[in-house]
Amino acid sequence: MTENNEKQLDTSSQPQNKTQDNQAPINREIKSFVRHHGRLTAGQQNALENYWEDFGIDFQDKVLDLKTFGDFNQVVLEIGFGNGESLVEMAKNSPGTLFIGAEVHRPGVGRALMLAHEHELKNLRVIEYDAVAFIDKMLPEQCLDRVQVFFPDPWHKKRHFKRRLIQPAFCQKLHRVLKPKGILHVATDWVPYAEHCVEVIDSIDFFNNCSPTGDYIEKPDYRPETKFERRGLKLGHEVRDMHFQKC
Ligand SMILES: C[S@@+](CC[C@H](N)C(=O)[O-])C[C@H]1O[C@@H](n2cnc3c(N)ncnc32)[C@H](O)[C@@H]1O
Repeated sequence: MTENNEKQLDTSSQPQNKTQDNQAPINREIKSFVRHHGRLTAGQQNALENYWEDFGIDFQDKVLDLKTFGDFNQVVLEIGFGNGESLVEMAKNSPGTLFIGAEVHRPGVGRALMLAHEHELKNLRVIEYDAVAFIDKMLPEQCLDRVQVFFPDPWHKKRHFKRRLIQPAFCQKLHRVLKPKGILHVATDWVPYAEHCVEVIDSIDFFNNCSPTGDYIEKPDYRPETKFERRGLKLGHEVRDMHFQKC
């Protein structure tokens, strides 16, 4: 991630309300990513051309009927699935669950389509779009059992904290689309971001932290190691998993 051109790209600032306990704005759109136009491999290009119909969701300003994807026990949304390896692994391991992945990085979307085709998955759909808009415009109320945000961009600098996905405004959006007692699962290798997440959840009354110690949980077995996790571990970072439950 380059941080030099963010000022120029961050055009989404709106009048902001501050929450009491932290400085996260509550009424602005969240621009949590910088879109990089990375080169596509031939395989990714081929997958985008040929497998989008099988797995792709086109963005539209219209609420989705998730039943059109089949009859599933559970529905999970993953935000920012990167190259899709861990998302595909999870979909393979839980065929009764519908996984929807949102990612803005086109090569990652291409790679996820390749893998989904290779494994003949029937329970994976992907959208190449900003997850915040996808949630707002396309997801019906109370349709998700879990939302997972694995190794989100940590936005290290204080002036960029407003670009972190996990903040009260975004949690409000997630609250609308999660089923009662639905789970928000966040994992990060940036401990200050993990601390920030715990603080955000402590500052709002519509999610509870499921940790017995009030902060982190053991990594759940269902979460495979991700690419960015491996990168963080190589750098000596510690990984934190968090489960926050909708009240
Ligand atoms: C640091 S990477 C982590 C990727 C993957 N989860 C992993 O652990 O390997 C964060 C990803 O989130 C994506 N992302 C960030 N904000 C997003 C948003 N609002 N909608 C969709 N994708 C987003 C970025 O494009 C990036 O690929």
